[in-house]
Amino acid sequence: MKQNILVIGQGGREHAIAWKISKSPKVQNVFVCPGNAGTALEDNIENIDIDISDINSLLDFVKKNNIFMTIIGPENPLVDGIVNEFSEQGLKIFGPTKEHAILEGSKVFSKEFMKNYGIPTSDYEMFSDKTQAKSYISTKKHPIVIKADGLAAGKGVVVSSSIEESNDAIDKLLSAHHSDFIIVEEFLSGQELSAIYICNYKGCTYEIGLPWTKDYKSRDEYNSGPNTGGMGAVSHPLSYGHKNEIYKLYQDIEKILVKTINGINDYNKESNIKYLGFLYIGLMIDSANKIKVLEYNCRMGDPETQNLMLTLENKGIDFLDMILNDPITNIQDLNIANFDQDSKGYCCTIVLAAKGYPESYAKGFYIDMRNIIENENIKIFHAGTTLDDNKICSTGGRILTVNAYAENKEKAINIAYENIKKIKVFQDKNMSIENNNLVFFREDIGG
Ligand code: AMP
Ligand code: GLY
Repeated sequence: MKQNILVIGQGGREHAIAWKISKSPKVQNVFVCPGNAGTALEDNIENIDIDISDINSLLDFVKKNNIFMTIIGPENPLVDGIVNEFSEQGLKIFGPTKEHAILEGSKVFSKEFMKNYGIPTSDYEMFSDKTQAKSYISTKKHPIVIKADGLAAGKGVVVSSSIEESNDAIDKLLSAHHSDFIIVEEFLSGQELSAIYICNYKGCTYEIGLPWTKDYKSRDEYNSGPNTGGMGAVSHPLSYGHKNEIYKLYQDIEKILVKTINGINDYNKESNIKYLGFLYIGLMIDSANKIKVLEYNCRMGDPETQNLMLTLENKGIDFLDMILNDPITNIQDLNIANFDQDSKGYCCTIVLAAKGYPESYAKGFYIDMRNIIENENIKIFHAGTTLDDNKICSTGGRILTVNAYAENKEKAINIAYENIKKIKVFQDKNMSIENNNLVFFREDIGG
């Protein structure tokens, strides 16, 4: 029997997950709550209009529409306990409970957790007092990193290069708006890597590693400008000369994964509930190939997911099978598979953002992408968009991604840039006043 799936969320990540799930032969209908213009325009996906914090209405919808499984995109509902509520009613939901999602929900928890379970991470101190925090940083070498404790939608981390900037960050982050605690940590340099796992119903020895990706976090070229949610992504970014080096990294990352899963399950051992859902380990690899964990997320990354879903589609892999860990499909580790092929395929994801993002930016302008011909190698995933009389209207800072998959890196990057440049932006709904200055994208994704 074909199944109905509900995806919770409204960003590019959720458009990509819903699109890929809708291609599974096991799926009847995909609903997205609340979705965006991209999900509204897909043939076999339907947006539903329920406030995602209204759990009772969501539960009602799931029961009435015979939803086989709910997949959670963003972190907030997880940290707030949506999985606990669904599970109490016996409903199938893919995501960790709030007791497990604390790995992402609190930076203080995650740093203590890493220390307790022997997981490599940068040195840090925790503060709840501004004067003490400022006195500490005044003795420290810069750059230094200051992080708010709780969820902050990508706005809770400041990489500071001067004492003045650090003092401002402390004032901003250690405040009623943000958080009662901050972490001040050692700055790490090197290559960032997003290692995302599907931790499934079979338990902790059956995690499936999605291909590594790299996210471009800073707003501007050459890693300058403020941190954002991510301005682009590429697949299997490690390009070392020798397979052995990558294999060694692979083993080190696996060790971190196992320690993390065993640790969080140990922390929750009284409830006897295991980690279920996506686990995103944000890593930094230094020039000596030493790995440290930058962060945990208990969900997939955005825009990494957009990159991954187009990759899986091109590799003919059913994402739902991965989540359900269907033994018939026998999915091999995709990172190991990538070591061995010269023509392993490459995916490039570029974010189109509103000028001013991640600070204040304009919304409510119109996007024309009719010049882009989508096919199995080129796919647009929407993020901050809505339909206004069938026109695509911007509603957020990150508006959409253009994703291109090709047999090699150069080709994928070229196709992605060729296509994103075809997008036109208009100030007005009649689409007569063209103003492409309302948007921007990074010019160096993949570089
Ligand atoms: P987080 O939410 O902790 O991952 O931080 C967001 C981003 O800030 C990371 O993806 C990195 O680009 C950057 N970042 C965080 N911690 C560090 C660190 N200790 N050293 C250098 N960059 C960092
Ligand atoms: N792209 C980084 C994140 O989703 O946290």
